[in-house]
Amino acid sequence: MDIGLAFDLKSDFVAPAGAPDDLLEEYDSERTIAAIEAALSRRGHRVRRMGGGKRFLAELLAAPPELVFNVAEGRGSRSREAHIPAVCEMVGVPCTHSDPATLALALDKALCKRVAAAAGVAVARDRVVRSVAELAGLELRFPCIAKPLHEGSSIGVRASSRSDDATALAREVGRIVGDYAQPALVEEFLTGPEFTVGVLGHGAQARVLAVMEIRPKDDRTADFVYSVELKRVWPDHVEYHVPPRRPPELLAAVERVALGAYRALECRDIGRVDVRLDAAGVAHFIELNPLPGISPGWSDLCILAEKSGVDHDALIGAILDQALARIGRR
Ligand SMILES: Nc1ncnc2c1ncn2[C@@H]1O[C@H](COP(=O)(O)OP(=O)(O)O)[C@@H](O)[C@H]1O
Ligand SMILES: [Mg+2]
Repeated sequence: MDIGLAFDLKSDFVAPAGAPDDLLEEYDSERTIAAIEAALSRRGHRVRRMGGGKRFLAELLAAPPELVFNVAEGRGSRSREAHIPAVCEMVGVPCTHSDPATLALALDKALCKRVAAAAGVAVARDRVVRSVAELAGLELRFPCIAKPLHEGSSIGVRASSRSDDATALAREVGRIVGDYAQPALVEEFLTGPEFTVGVLGHGAQARVLAVMEIRPKDDRTADFVYSVELKRVWPDHVEYHVPPRRPPELLAAVERVALGAYRALECRDIGRVDVRLDAAGVAHFIELNPLPGISPGWSDLCILAEKSGVDHDALIGAILDQALARIGRR
């Protein structure tokens, strides 16, 4: 099959002067794209690098492939992840991963939570604020966490993101609104253990690939924030457990939350869902990544897959197989 690979390389962007150092965190490395290309080629497909943005669009119109394998994060707005699937849909070329409506919705963490909550999935109480002044009269209980409303890849989420009082929260909201030019989502902090869940497929057949617990080595679970610093600078401070050493009923509850959110958002092919327990041990949905990072050995989805016996090639193959089955090509 003639497969076009849609992607955005970190090296294609230049962060504006004075921007926070994690602004381009979501974009891919050459190594990741080469690994995806190799995995698809090894399955006997002809793979063409189409890149992202207008370059992708020009090539899509000039020489449409039979299928687009999409890992492009897009650029510039909360709808950025929807750009590639939207133009594919317009031109009539099938595309892996979720459709544009799901990708746009999932990137706005507050809207995504509303949809999951309407389907009966537990979520932390929250408020969206556009300025520090809007924190007045906040009716949330501390500790809280503030994060950029429409980012992923831990962008803007720091070790300092958890706030115990109004002063600390105002500082965090000021940082987010200032540095990332978008509203802040303020949530009550879930102090229990954290999990991330890989999900494959769509609709009723969607199934859990694996559940991974992300544990701070210092056991200070109640303060734990899986921040950009932890991933980049102190990776030795976290442990990944697949499967988590937890009772089966608890893991079943975590899976129910993940599948509930995945199905409510009508995700397709692959997704990764973050879940955390509150102080009473109730599993809550945090966020859903319908375009999860897929860097070998680095991205949570790849760590989770590898630890459950699915190597990078097999993971790419599984995503492709889901898309091919969905469009009736296998
Ligand atoms: N309401 C919350 N309660 C407790 N921890 C949270 C909450 N929201 C986010 N976190 C912590 O912050 C991390 C990053 O937040 P998340 O919403 O998953 O952003 P990202 O899109 O950057 O992954 C989570 O993995 C978790 O450790
Ligand atoms: Mg997350």
